[in-house]
Amino acid sequence: MAEDLTISNGSKEEKYHAIIPQIKGLLEGEHDLVANLANVAAALKEQFSWWWIGFYLVKNNELVLGPFQGPVACTRIKKGRGVCGTSWAEGKTLIVEDVEKFPGHIACSSLSRSEIVVPLIHNNEVWGVLDADSEHLAHYNEVDKLFLEQIVNLLKPE
Ligand code: SME
Repeated sequence: MAEDLTISNGSKEEKYHAIIPQIKGLLEGEHDLVANLANVAAALKEQFSWWWIGFYLVKNNELVLGPFQGPVACTRIKKGRGVCGTSWAEGKTLIVEDVEKFPGHIACSSLSRSEIVVPLIHNNEVWGVLDADSEHLAHYNEVDKLFLEQIVNLLKPE
């Protein structure tokens, strides 16, 4: 079966409107977490060409690197550390317009300039985070928050 995505060249909203139904299609009937996280990361990378997009999962009270697209990244992040660990600790989405101005930002890649981290929440517990990084300043905004929160709601822990 062909799995080619249809990519939109429109506005940010149009891109999300194009990719979300396709992400739903990719997740439908598949319960394997790694397979689903891998396809969500790949679909977002293809649609948006972000510098880095991927997941960290809570394991033994640490965030551990999960499926991603982009350059190699740090493998473990403690609660409250960096943007990812802060999003986990606070249970909320963080938009960072300039990573150099975020105290404690963990620079996995020196080319990353802005970032959004969205917690994955199930039964009121954070079980991971989605992290997207851009090589451009102030690349992410409330539109990304709105749609990425919808996307992570499609995911469930194993
Ligand atoms: N910058 C993140 C670390 C993860 S990488 O960007 C992929 C942070 O500060 O938590």
